[in-house]
Amino acid sequence: MTNLQIAIDGPAGSGKSTAARQVAKELGYIYVDTGALYRAVALVALRQKIDCSDENLLARLAQTLDVDIRPQSDGNPAYFIKGEEVTDKLRSPEVNNIVSQVAKIPAVRTAVTQKLQAIGNLGGIVMDGRDIGTVVLPTAEVKVFLTADLATRVARRQQELLERGFDLPSDVVKEEVLKRDHEDSKRMLAPLKPASDAYILDTTKLTPEQVVQTIVDLVRQKQQQQLSS
Ligand code: CDP
Repeated sequence: MTNLQIAIDGPAGSGKSTAARQVAKELGYIYVDTGALYRAVALVALRQKIDCSDENLLARLAQTLDVDIRPQSDGNPAYFIKGEEVTDKLRSPEVNNIVSQVAKIPAVRTAVTQKLQAIGNLGGIVMDGRDIGTVVLPTAEVKVFLTADLATRVARRQQELLERGFDLPSDVVKEEVLKRDHEDSKRMLAPLKPASDAYILDTTKLTPEQVVQTIVDLVRQKQQQQLSS
């Protein structure tokens, strides 16, 4: 079967990573969580006490930071920085709070985008993020933009944090989700928005399995078209 590029974008809690991971598994493709690279820059910036407005230092950090992504048997990649596993730390509330500020710096985006494009060019890839269909892989054969209503997205994010050991009240989680939505959609460069040729899927009332099935069906259709053309 043809090795396609599949781009899955959407806001926090829309179900991107769950869907992308499972779609990759079903197709035998590689899953790339692009937010993890922005999160890694944010984590190291926090540790090194780099100010979020220090664009030069953050750009240098993004250019030089080596994030080691190790696939796991359960389909969840593990992330290491200098030999230390940081998988859970990447999704901590502290990182959630600053990652969008880091991700809006143009030189940070350029550095991360270049790394992602090098991976994406291999094909046979499912990438999730905010600008995959618009900027990182604009020629991806399948583009999906996931949405869900705010209450659902907050509940999903709260549950995810709980599973990682962070027990936060829903109003705190809601504030973080709204802040990130705002920063990600209003930034100048590569804002969160559907590509003009993206399939928009509201996941509010869908089970994860239904989301995965819809995306896999889109991929199969595309593969059929390619084989018959
Ligand atoms: O999982 P969740 O949707 O909450 O976030 P994520 O995909 O891990 O992304 C974390 C943050 O990184 C986002 O809020 C964006 O600020 C930034 N990001 C981005 O700007 N572009 C991407 N392709 C992926 C993430």
